[in-house]
Amino acid sequence: MRVLFATSEVAPLIKTGGLADVSAALPAALHEMAVDIHILLPGYPQVLKALPHLQVAIEIYIQPNFPVARLLTGSLPNGVPLLVIECAELYERGGGAYQDEHGLDWPDNAQRFGLLSRIAALLSCADSPLDWKPDIVHCNDWQTGLTPAYLHFSNGAARCVMTVHNLAFQGIFPPQMVAELGLPIECFQPDGVEFYDNLSFMKAGLYYADHITTVSPSYANEIQTDALGFGLQGLLSYRRESLTGILNGIDTTEWDPATDPNLAQPYNLSNINGKSANKRELQKRMGLHIDPDLPLFGLVGRFTPQKGVDLVLEIAPQLITLPAQLVLLGSGDVEMQRIALELTHHYSGQISAYVGFDEGLSHLIEAGADIFLMPSRFEPCGLNQMYSQRYGTPPVVHATGGLIDTVSDCNTISLKQGIASGFVFNSMDAPSLLATAQRAVLTYHDKKIWRALQYNCMIKDFGWDQSAAAYHDIYTHLMRR
Ligand code: ADP
Ligand code: GLC
Repeated sequence: MRVLFATSEVAPLIKTGGLADVSAALPAALHEMAVDIHILLPGYPQVLKALPHLQVAIEIYIQPNFPVARLLTGSLPNGVPLLVIECAELYERGGGAYQDEHGLDWPDNAQRFGLLSRIAALLSCADSPLDWKPDIVHCNDWQTGLTPAYLHFSNGAARCVMTVHNLAFQGIFPPQMVAELGLPIECFQPDGVEFYDNLSFMKAGLYYADHITTVSPSYANEIQTDALGFGLQGLLSYRRESLTGILNGIDTTEWDPATDPNLAQPYNLSNINGKSANKRELQKRMGLHIDPDLPLFGLVGRFTPQKGVDLVLEIAPQLITLPAQLVLLGSGDVEMQRIALELTHHYSGQISAYVGFDEGLSHLIEAGADIFLMPSRFEPCGLNQMYSQRYGTPPVVHATGGLIDTVSDCNTISLKQGIASGFVFNSMDAPSLLATAQRAVLTYHDKKIWRALQYNCMIKDFGWDQSAAAYHDIYTHLMRR
């Protein structure tokens, strides 16, 4: 079975969120299952710098819509084969994968991800210039959403799977981009790529893909509703027979408290006391009062309304009177960043925020915090709550999407059943979040129950085996069709 996995980010090369983690770990798990998988990725400067020994395979010139590009071959640090699109005009610049240094979307994102989508389709056609031809092309989020559309209108050979990691980002561009990106004009209609008079990359993927997946069973249901369908609920519920929710796994080697090089002291279930050295280190590094007994809340994530960071900032002054401490790591919304830094200044020693992206610190927070905060308004899957459980740091989560599917609320019954692993609240507002945080603090002070909770968290299997097998089944099914 040959699979082309097209994506706009892959850890550790280039990462803005969970898509990068999944794009590294899922192909690796499939590779282990003897799937002949290749990842296709744009050649951002971060990628070319990290992999200086890529080989030039072929030149690709899709006239008149795209500049000339070269396909480079190599492999990821985990051994998975990689195809990198080198195109200096579209990808080699400062800033990030989607935005410039000031957080503004690149004005040519339609061309940048149009090219990624177009090349993924080209390599999946019967007349692909490569000898290696995939049976399946696996697309991820809007950045590769046009691939199924291009394939539909060409000499397509591969079947395509479209995975929705986050429906909130859709890749919406003005209608003239349809022709500029070389799509036939007849696809610009409601039964096609049109979305309220614009071109939608995400809709294109959802409309033309042979199969749609999303990253948790609960989110698969939620995106068919008005509340979380972002305008695509009609199409998604129409296609529900071809829509599967498969829970993400995590890379259990990368995220292992027993071997994690970012920790002050490694620990595991039988030596959980080692966790306290990480709490001390985190308090020290973030300028908090060193206190082993005060419950320490941690949050890592993009500062956006999705993540409910606004609610955490709102309750922060009350949270520390429980009493407790709070550490925040993230970046994004300018106003949220400002408030986080203001709280750090005002409640020095009790609240501390680091605004920016810091992989090492994110690991230390998972290990050093006592309780992890993830009050997302919506969450397709979420990885941080799984990392935190693996690190013995029970999470406080809102009952949504993948958070429902990965966290069991701590109560008398779930404790008795040995499945309690965190604290879940239903109503997305500040009082509910604060009450649930308080419930977590009370439980924290009952050492026996807390140990049981940590145990339940740490023995959970969040590995990829089962989910990779579910993707494998879908590929097999499509190949038979
Ligand atoms: P999303 O993809 O919606 O951002 P996930 O929970 O799936 O949410 O994945 C987020 C990933 O990005 C995790 O690996 C998390 O640790 C990481 N991350 C987010 N913000 C930061 C940050 N500021 N510094 C380091 N890592 C971060
Ligand atoms: C998205 C979602 C997140 C998910 C990640 C990886 O960014 O917001 O919930 O875990 O993709 O699938």
